[in-house]
Amino acid sequence: MATQPADLDRIAAAALGLVGADMLLGLGTGRAAEAFIRGLGERVRQGLRVRGVPTSRRSEALARSVGIEVTSLDEVDGLDVAFDGADEVTPHLDLTKGLGGALLRERVVANAAETFVVLVTPEKLVEKLNSRGPIPIEIVAFARAPIVRGLAALGGRPTLRVDQAGTTYFTDNGNPIVDTDFGPISDPAGLDSAIRKIPGVVDTGMFLSMADVVFVGDADRIRELRRR
Ligand code: A5P
Repeated sequence: MATQPADLDRIAAAALGLVGADMLLGLGTGRAAEAFIRGLGERVRQGLRVRGVPTSRRSEALARSVGIEVTSLDEVDGLDVAFDGADEVTPHLDLTKGLGGALLRERVVANAAETFVVLVTPEKLVEKLNSRGPIPIEIVAFARAPIVRGLAALGGRPTLRVDQAGTTYFTDNGNPIVDTDFGPISDPAGLDSAIRKIPGVVDTGMFLSMADVVFVGDADRIRELRRR
């Protein structure tokens, strides 16, 4: 069944329990993150004081529209908690991210946070990364052709992401994305490091050993998975 907005609101409400007064928060991108931002806006209207660093222009616009004070990584030394969605979550809490195109800023913000919290519905749980969809890889446009060849040499099937009009999609950082299908990945760390060795690769959608807590919204309860 398709993800319902009400499910995301329930997960967001559970995650909001980790937010305290005067915290500095990372604000992710995508439907789950947007449910969280809207819930946080509600708490701000009730008097909670927090500041947030958004991971995309879209999340920034939403955060401002619901009254959240927006700041940047230039203005703070670090963040308390970053909240974001994911496209896949393994039992080790490794993630695939970037279907929404914000992977690079999402990684920077998650890395700046003491705690990285992920919000997903149960269909995102997988045994191995690249089970539900390809790995998004953000690249420098100049290097597209050799990168595509390099990804194919690693066993991937790369597809340049296009927007709804069929023209090349560019991230908020002005870079294209090559969505690459490797099939279910047995050695994500090895593959991630091989991809990063290709000159012109900016970031991959594999977020390994980064998530601290994953909230999974099952039909009747919210499960909290923690990295050991
Ligand atoms: C954005 O670039 C992505 O990493 C999202 O966090 C991810 O695609 C999950 O999005 P949804 O919550 O919309 O499924």
